[in-house]
Amino acid sequence: MASLTASGLSRLLGEWNVGATPGYRELADVVRLLVLDGRVALDTALPSERALSETLGVSRTMVTAAYGLLREQGFLTGGQGSRSRTRIPRLTPAGTTLFTGPVRNDPALTAPGLAAPEGLIDLAYASLPASGEVVHRAFAAALTELPALLPGFGYDAIGLLPLREAVAARYTAAGAPTTAGQILVTSGAQHALNIILRALAGRQDRVLVEHPSYPNALDAIRAAGCRPVPVAFSGGTGAGIHGAHGRAAQTWDMDAVQAALQQQRPRLAYVVPDFHNPTGQLMPDLQRRQLVRAAAAAGTVLVVDETLRELNLDGAGTAPVAAFSPAVVTIGSLSKSHWGGLRIGWIRASEDLVQRFAAARTSLDLGGPLMEQLDAAHLVRALDEPLPARIAALRDSRAALLELLAGHLPEWETAYPAGGLSAWCRLPAPISTALTVIAPDFGIRLAAGPRFGIGGAFERYLRVPFTLPPEKLEAAVLALRSAQDRLDAAPQLRRSLKNAPAVAIA
Ligand SMILES: Cc1ncc(COP(=O)(O)O)c(C=O)c1O
Repeated sequence: MASLTASGLSRLLGEWNVGATPGYRELADVVRLLVLDGRVALDTALPSERALSETLGVSRTMVTAAYGLLREQGFLTGGQGSRSRTRIPRLTPAGTTLFTGPVRNDPALTAPGLAAPEGLIDLAYASLPASGEVVHRAFAAALTELPALLPGFGYDAIGLLPLREAVAARYTAAGAPTTAGQILVTSGAQHALNIILRALAGRQDRVLVEHPSYPNALDAIRAAGCRPVPVAFSGGTGAGIHGAHGRAAQTWDMDAVQAALQQQRPRLAYVVPDFHNPTGQLMPDLQRRQLVRAAAAAGTVLVVDETLRELNLDGAGTAPVAAFSPAVVTIGSLSKSHWGGLRIGWIRASEDLVQRFAAARTSLDLGGPLMEQLDAAHLVRALDEPLPARIAALRDSRAALLELLAGHLPEWETAYPAGGLSAWCRLPAPISTALTVIAPDFGIRLAAGPRFGIGGAFERYLRVPFTLPPEKLEAAVLALRSAQDRLDAAPQLRRSLKNAPAVAIA
């Protein structure tokens, strides 16, 4: 059985207590979210009430009350004399008696990194299978090239030259002239962000983030001890793809971004301008220009994550942000264009910064695996080959999802995603966590909206990926409809799962 120390839980709790009057409910709410989104695995022993109250600097009564509430809601078991252990409540089939059923002790429902168990449609992940035969072919070619590398030590903190050259050539062709010396190969985009944080940010440094943002990036920023500075999107309402029920595309609120940069002068700004995760929005050229100018004026290093850049579903081309300023640090990856299983990404920056990143990475790893890099060099050169089929399939699935949502969940509002892998839906009530808890009972797995924000925001939002084929999406949307009907029919269920911890958003 896993267990969590008081300091471990305190780290995960993050900013739970930044609100005006944090109380036991807020503490319970945040612990519940950690269990729901898998950051605390099921059947984990929580720290004792005494240890946690000492570490958090709050009264023992507060922790006792929070644990009591979680036990009442079905998220904790044990206690009296033994350590409280995490669990997930289960509804009775009628959905009227709350949190009294047996433990759904299925680690795959919450453990990060594991796919949904068989039979469950996974809407928590926005990822695709490998792009097909081209990956296999590239590995076959790599195998014939491997012997040439075997006499060397194999440690390479910057990355194999042919891969760096291939990546640099793509940036040059896209309008951002780049040398191989400006590319550092990483084990994916997430690794790239961790290297950048390690090299450029210190504890307590501010990092501007879009709000919502990619959850694992928010986790990395928090884990580095930095303080995220969230800037909301501006979301106009009006006729979107859903017609009368639609919601015009949300877009970057550049005034708010500029104000946050100017007033807070964050050390870094982390943005996803190309088919932003989770909203699927594309930042127009004018805003790209404004962004680099405002970051430069504030002395902020702009970190641009282009992991989803190739998934451009409507064909409107934009230049990479790096084309607007040599100071931009760009993250790229093959995870979405080809396959997450490759674990190949990169950082594009000035040659000086690349050397700093290479030095910083040695505390994380000593270089990337060479077979994968040989393979990736072929894939980057042939990047355009599998993309048309991938994009056509995603376009079909996007159209199917938007139509299904409009037909079956007309009270949901969905911003039209110009690309990427997911739509960001506004729910008619703050029920995202409640939907996520009951979703497995309807055959689906969800990621609750608050996972994409800071301090419990986005309880009114749900990310719905369109990575599944249309038939599966239909089953998924019907399941979402049934889950919402269950909540509509059981207001007490909604109340007991109501999240929205009263935590201020910085
Ligand atoms: C915006 C963004 N950044 C980074 C990642 C992680 O990418 P990688 O698999 O290359 O680490 C993802 C994956 O979904 C993503 O959407």
